[in-house]
Amino acid sequence: MNLHHMNYHDEYARWQGDPEAFWRTAAAAVDWHHRPQVICDQTRPPFVRWFAGGTLNACYNAVDRHVETGHGDQTALIHVSAMTRAERQFSYLELQHEVAQLAGALQKFGVQQGDLVVIYMPMIPEAVFAMLACARLGAMHSVVFGGFAAPELAARIDDAKPVLVLSASCGLEPGRVIDYKALLDRALTLTRHTPRATLILQRPQLDVPLQAGRDHDWQQVVAAAKPADCVPIEATAPLYVLYTSGTTGKPKGIVRDTGGYLVALDWSMQYVYDARPGEVFFAASDIGWVVGHSYIVYGPLVHRCTTVMYEGKPVGTPDAAAYWRIVANHKVRTLFTAPTAIRAIRREDPHGTQLRQHDVSSLRALFLAGERADPDTVSWAGQQLQLPVIDHWWQTETGWPMVANCLGIEQLPIKPGSPAKAVPGFAIHVVDESGKQVGPGEQGALVAKLPLPPGSLPTLWNNDEQFVASYLTAYPGYYHTGDGGYIDADGYVYVMGRTDDVINIAGHRLSTGELEQALAGHAAVAECAVIGVADELKGTVPVGLVVLKAGVSDTHASLTAQLIDRVRDEVGAVASFKRCLVVARLPKTRSGKFCAPPCGPLPTAATTPCQQRSRIRQYWQKSRRR
Ligand code: COA
Ligand code: AMP
Repeated sequence: MNLHHMNYHDEYARWQGDPEAFWRTAAAAVDWHHRPQVICDQTRPPFVRWFAGGTLNACYNAVDRHVETGHGDQTALIHVSAMTRAERQFSYLELQHEVAQLAGALQKFGVQQGDLVVIYMPMIPEAVFAMLACARLGAMHSVVFGGFAAPELAARIDDAKPVLVLSASCGLEPGRVIDYKALLDRALTLTRHTPRATLILQRPQLDVPLQAGRDHDWQQVVAAAKPADCVPIEATAPLYVLYTSGTTGKPKGIVRDTGGYLVALDWSMQYVYDARPGEVFFAASDIGWVVGHSYIVYGPLVHRCTTVMYEGKPVGTPDAAAYWRIVANHKVRTLFTAPTAIRAIRREDPHGTQLRQHDVSSLRALFLAGERADPDTVSWAGQQLQLPVIDHWWQTETGWPMVANCLGIEQLPIKPGSPAKAVPGFAIHVVDESGKQVGPGEQGALVAKLPLPPGSLPTLWNNDEQFVASYLTAYPGYYHTGDGGYIDADGYVYVMGRTDDVINIAGHRLSTGELEQALAGHAAVAECAVIGVADELKGTVPVGLVVLKAGVSDTHASLTAQLIDRVRDEVGAVASFKRCLVVARLPKTRSGKFCAPPCGPLPTAATTPCQQRSRIRQYWQKSRRR
C-alpha cells in the first residue's frame, strides 16, 4: 500500500535533480555514531566515498538498535533446514547475545578493526552470527561459497589474507555430507598465507578431527568468551570483501563500504521490495553470494524484518513445494529467488498442484534475479501465484538492484523479459563500441553513469588499478557492467547476457577462464576452451572443448571423465561441468585467438571475447550436427 501516492517518475526525477539531498534524506534511516559531514566525496577521482566522516556500526544497525527500541522479542532469524528437517528461531535479543559472544571469542584471537576473517560455511545460523560478529568488531568478512573446491578457497585466502578462518565440519547436499573441514585442510596446504587459527563448528552430522594449535572448537571458545560491544567505524571503511568471477581465471575481491551499503539497503528494502519492519522476508539464496549478503543478512535485519534462511533446494528436499511450505508456515511477505529455482519447481509441478496445497496468501510479490528471467518463466510464476513477479537486475559489484520495478514507489506494468526501469541512484544507458549512447531498441553495452550510488563497490580489494581498468576505462564517464542489452521506447531495460567471459550457471556466476585453467592443468591437454551453452533448467551450462597433446593415447571417454572430475576438484561442483569433448582443433585465428572454425573462414573477424565465444558455440553446434 503506497500511503504517499508516490510515483516512479517523480521519485526518479527527485534523485536526478539532487542526488546528495536524496541520499542525505535516506541516510536518516540508519543510526550513526557520528553523522557524516560529506554526502558524496569525489575529491580523489575516479574514486567515490559516500558519507565520509560519518561513523557507525553495521551490527548495531542490524541487531542492537532493534533491541534498544523495544523489539528484542521480535523474531530476527528463522532457519529452516530441509536437510535436517529442523527449524531454529532467534529473536533480536537472542541474536544479539549469540553475536556478542562470538565477537568476544574472535577478540580473544586478536581480531580487531581492519582485520579480515574468511567464512567458509554452510547455510546455518552460525554463519550469520559470524558475519555480524565481524561487523561488530569492525573487522571485514569474506564469505566463500561452500560449493567451491579447495583451490578456489585457497586463492581467496591468499588474496584476502585473513587472520582467522571460520568454518564448520560439514555441509549437507541431497544424498551426501560434504566434509568442509577436509576441503579447508586441503586449501591450507595450497596457500602461501597462513591464518592465525581456525574456528570449526562441529555439526551433529559429522565430527571432524581438529589439528591442535591451529583448529579450535567453535562451541568451546564461544562458551568461554565474554560478550563484545559494537565498535564505531568509518562509514567508508569496508564491511566485507566478496569474491566474484571476472573475465580472467582470478576472482575479483569486491569491496563493500559500510555506511553507503546500509543506507542503500535500507532504502531498497522499503522502496524496491516494499518491505516493512516486522514482516517476514525470504531470500532463497546462499550467504556465499551477494544476494545472501544483501537480502538474507544485512537488508532485512537493518530494516527490522524477520529473515528466513533456508538450507535445502527448491525441489527434491523433499518436493517442489519446499518454498511454498515455508511461505505458508511463516507468513512470508516477500520471496526472492533465482529464475532457475522457479524453472525447477515448474518442471516438477507444472500445473501448480503442489503449490495449491499451501496457503501462500501472505505473499505480496515474487522477486527474481541472478540471471536472465525468461518471459515464459515469469508468466508461469505470475499465473500460478496470481502475484506480481518482479525481475530485477544487479550484480555483486553494485550490491543492490540497478534496474527494478520499485514496488515500494509504484508498481509499473510488468513486461515479461524486462526487469523494468532504472532504480533511483542508477542512470542506465546503452552505448555502442565508441561509448556513444544508442537509440531505443538498439543493442549495446549496458552502462551506469558515474558516480555509482551508495553501496556500490568503491574499489577492488588491494587493487585500485584493476578496479579502474575493469570497470571505468572501457566507456569514460560510465561504469561498465559487463552485460549487454537494450532499452525500449518506454525506458524498460532488457538485459540479454554478458558481453565478456562470465557465464551464469543456475544463477551462479563463473568465469570460463577459471574452468579453462582447470582443464589446461591436465597433462594430456594441449589447448582448451570452455563455452556456455543454453540449458533448459540452469539457463547456461559449461561445455569444454579440448585438444590433446600429440601422442596421447587415452580413450576419449576415460579422459573426459578425468577432466570432468578435475574441474569438480579444482573449481567445485557448483560449476556443473558435466560435458567435455575432445576435438581435433579449436577454431582460432593466426594470432592465436579462438574464432575461425576449421570448417571454413568466418565472414568477419571476431574482436571481443564474447564474439569469439559465440563463434566457438556456432562451430560446436555445427560439429555436433555432423
Ligand atoms: N556446498 C557444496 N556443494 C554444493 C553447494 C554447497 N553449498 N551448493 C551446490 N553444491 C553442489 C551440488 O550438490 C551439485 O553437485 P552435484 O553435481 O554432485 O549434484 C552441484 O554443486 C550443482 O549444484 P546446484 O546448482 O544446486 O544444482 P542441482 O543440480 O543440485 O540443483 C537447482 C538444481 C535448480 C535445484 C539448483 O541449481 C538451484 O536451487 N538453483 C537456484 C540457485 C540460486 O538460488 N542461486 C542463488 C543466486 S540468487
Ligand atoms: P552476480 O554478481 O553473481 O550477482 O551476477 C551478476 C550477473 O548476473 C549480471 O551481470 C548479469 O549477467 C546476471 N543477472 C543478474 N540479474 C539479472 C537479471 N535480472 N536479468 C538478467 N541478468 C541478470
